[in-house]
Amino acid sequence: MSLAADNQTQKDTQGFIIVPFTPKDDLWPLAEAWELAFSDPPNGPRYARDFVDQVLHHANYPNLHGYFARDQQTGVVLGVAYGYSNQPGQWWYDRVARALGQKLTSQFLANSYSLTELGVIPSARRRGVGLALVHTLLANQPHSCILLSTRSDNTKGLAFYHTTGWVTLLPTMSFGWNYPPYDILHYDLTT
Ligand SMILES: CC(C)(COP(=O)(O)OP(=O)(O)OC[C@H]1O[C@@H](n2cnc3c(N)ncnc32)[C@H](O)[C@@H]1OP(=O)(O)O)[C@@H](O)C(=O)NCCC(=O)NCCS
Repeated sequence: MSLAADNQTQKDTQGFIIVPFTPKDDLWPLAEAWELAFSDPPNGPRYARDFVDQVLHHANYPNLHGYFARDQQTGVVLGVAYGYSNQPGQWWYDRVARALGQKLTSQFLANSYSLTELGVIPSARRRGVGLALVHTLLANQPHSCILLSTRSDNTKGLAFYHTTGWVTLLPTMSFGWNYPPYDILHYDLTT
């Protein structure tokens, strides 16, 4: 699917629309969808409050863009995604930079975007919601290199990413002693 063709803030798809959000919107319906999306193993448990806190914490990060998918008939929030530009000094950037080392940091991380959260509620999966959210977010941010981290044991999430063009840059990275291993993936918008 061409990202250029997706460069719009709302689009009709199969029974759902993709809608932009900002930290100033009511984040609770999105947070509840996020909690539900991450409720099955190996993810979670996650709590809606943490999504709200995290988005507000990231509110001043550069190029924060967020989108959610809404069922056109019921109005139910089906999924949510957001990201921001990576910069030194950010918690995620600094840890990933240390793990990647200088060469890979300047090649991939230094001028990149982060897909920070992506979740689709279980009942709405395999309808193209996740792909539509990612494509809309990527089409509306300014970088050609996008990075994300996902748990190394998140086999379904990794299957989604690998079949939709993402490439593993660094497997089983440690964010610290109390974190499970995470894989770092990248997406190149120039290819
Ligand atoms: C990963 C996730 C976002 C995928 O969302 P989705 O809306 O179901 O994905 P899509 O329908 O857009 O899938 C697009 C393609 O990805 C692949 N894919 C998606 N889920 C898959 C799975 N569980 N197993 C294997 N391939 C999968 C398929 O090729 C699929 O196309 P197809 O359905 O025509 O075969 C969703 O399963 C989810 O929210 N999981 C829990 C949270 C999570 O792991 N988030 C991502 C990591 S942070």
